[in-house]
Amino acid sequence: MTAGVPTRFLVHEDGFVPKERYVSREFFDLEMERLWSRVWQVVGREEEIPKVGDYLEYAIGDQSILVVRVSPEVVKGYSNACLHRGTRLADGFGCFADGTMRCRFHGWQYALDGRLVGVPDAEEFSLPEGLCLPEVRLERWGGFLFVNLDPEAEPLVDFLDPLPALLAPYRFDELRFRSYRTTVLPANWKVVVDAFNEAYHVQGTHSQILPWTDDVAIQYEQLGKHSHYGRLANARSMLRPSPRVGMRDEDVDEGEILAALVAGLGGAFLAEERALVDELRAADVPPGTLLERYQERRMELLRSRGFDVSGLEPDQMTSADDVYWFPNMVGPVYPGSAILFRMRPDGIDPDHTIKDTWVLEWPRPGDDWEMPERRFYPDWRDKDWGLITNQDYENMAHVQIGMKTHGFRGLRLNPRQESNILHMHRVIDEYLTS
Ligand code: FES
Ligand SMILES: [Fe+2]
Repeated sequence: MTAGVPTRFLVHEDGFVPKERYVSREFFDLEMERLWSRVWQVVGREEEIPKVGDYLEYAIGDQSILVVRVSPEVVKGYSNACLHRGTRLADGFGCFADGTMRCRFHGWQYALDGRLVGVPDAEEFSLPEGLCLPEVRLERWGGFLFVNLDPEAEPLVDFLDPLPALLAPYRFDELRFRSYRTTVLPANWKVVVDAFNEAYHVQGTHSQILPWTDDVAIQYEQLGKHSHYGRLANARSMLRPSPRVGMRDEDVDEGEILAALVAGLGGAFLAEERALVDELRAADVPPGTLLERYQERRMELLRSRGFDVSGLEPDQMTSADDVYWFPNMVGPVYPGSAILFRMRPDGIDPDHTIKDTWVLEWPRPGDDWEMPERRFYPDWRDKDWGLITNQDYENMAHVQIGMKTHGFRGLRLNPRQESNILHMHRVIDEYLTS
């Protein structure tokens, strides 16, 4: 036992990861008690609750937190339970339009700042003065709202360090939701996180993209509690297929690779960017210079549309920074857009995960932005997520089922390409044992 945690659950010194961490109820309970109760976790973004009285509910395990805009500047988090008999005060998202939160059961009322302000037949109670909904810590960064159930937790910026500095040029506070989709996947929440925190599986799962994706020249870095992966500096200026496909240099069609790369970038000006690729391809630029030219032109395009790209390097125009925000958000960040996956256990079920897909974008200057509809797919098969994501989702049930078989004892991770996954487990162990 280490600080009350059975040793058989802990990551071995040599990096072996016991499977109990993904499949056992006891380990799941430890995570609820020592991890989820103490980490900063993202509940949503400012633009979801723009008006005073707007709220959203955040559920983690069996805990429910109510996040409310109390004034134009102030957002607070509350324990989402009526002080009378515990009824959950609100679910999903919405607005307390008249400025009071009223319990559906017996009608107790709370001001937006959490004070109990109305009790039917109050004279029949002898309630203490000044009752308030218990507050949950809430802090903000880059337009994101985070909560932490631990009153003693470090400030959010210390927890996130060094991500705020790394991501500053992407100006997250100016991003807005373009789409918001949620589904449920049949695997432990970490299986889902892991699937987006390494590129080692590209050759095994997404081999169709190897002709235009160099899956090998990738660097994995652990950053505080978090991690990052992305193209190696020298690979950021080259259009190469995977060395695994064994293509001869003279057979490489840089234009084709660039077109495929740009198709995957997303963002507000995809049509213009495609046209740019066509133009450069037609211009027949000298070999080895196409990517650089495109990067410059893309930067000009964004600048001419009123976007501030001053903090970004040209090679960031075509390379994602894939960031893992411990413990449960991961995804690629591009100039002007980001795709973020947020994972949570589905209630207290170790075998299912609620996964949100958030596509964020800088709105076109001058456009009226509106919050898109949040769509929920209770079964991931109800929607076509695109070939690559479908392939990832398809794997998940197989991982969860396979891990449970008696002959399997634990994960043997690739020390380089899966180092971010191992790092996550080591950070989890720090929480479990401290
Ligand atoms: S439980 Fe809320 S008023 Fe009774
Ligand atoms: Fe994948």
